[in-house]
Amino acid sequence: MALQTTLAFDVYGTLIDTHGVLTALETLVGDKAKAFSTTWRDKQLEYSFRKGLMQNYETFAVCTSQALDYTCTFYTVDLSDEQKKELMGIYRVLPPFADVKEGLSNLKASGFRLFAFSNGAADALEVLLTNAGIRDMFLGVVSVDEVKSFKPNPGVYSHFLRQSEATGGDAWLVSSNPFDVIGSISAGMKSAWVQRSADAIFDPWGIEPTITVSSLTELDQKITQN
Ligand code: LAC
Repeated sequence: MALQTTLAFDVYGTLIDTHGVLTALETLVGDKAKAFSTTWRDKQLEYSFRKGLMQNYETFAVCTSQALDYTCTFYTVDLSDEQKKELMGIYRVLPPFADVKEGLSNLKASGFRLFAFSNGAADALEVLLTNAGIRDMFLGVVSVDEVKSFKPNPGVYSHFLRQSEATGGDAWLVSSNPFDVIGSISAGMKSAWVQRSADAIFDPWGIEPTITVSSLTELDQKITQN
């Protein structure tokens, strides 16, 4: 059965640690680094939601860059264009979470069809996944850029299903981002929420993840049971 099951892995925040910029931020903004990183990420996502709703698409990298400008103003941090460019450069080569390589290898060996599926544009994803040493794990990389919208627009999940030649009943979205889990279930897929930290909160919308795991290494067994 596992042979027909397709897994769509969210990238930023699920495979790749968006707080991998922390070390660079500590040098640039000192003890504000953690709060800065969180606001930057939250604003990046908010901008993607808003551009999607406005049907005024710009790439995820534009959302990230504009969110960086906002965050500098919010924390009254005066970064030069050069320093912002340095941070955007680090964003292109963020590190994977510690459980990712082993988790993906196990799933691939078990016969699951693995795809990356992200808000990021295809070129950014190729660089990111190659740098993280996990590009070869995937049968394909599907980007929302191909339909000029963002998660959780139901159209982007349909696009994934078409591109991966899967159907909602045999395809799972694997994500640490609750909005992504809820979006994919609403669009007819199954979904695993990767709750790496006990503090992570799932939105109380009455739509629950099909399964919840604390690490990618738990997926194989739990997905097979569902
Ligand atoms: C992504 C966003 C949700 O990778 O972080 O699609």
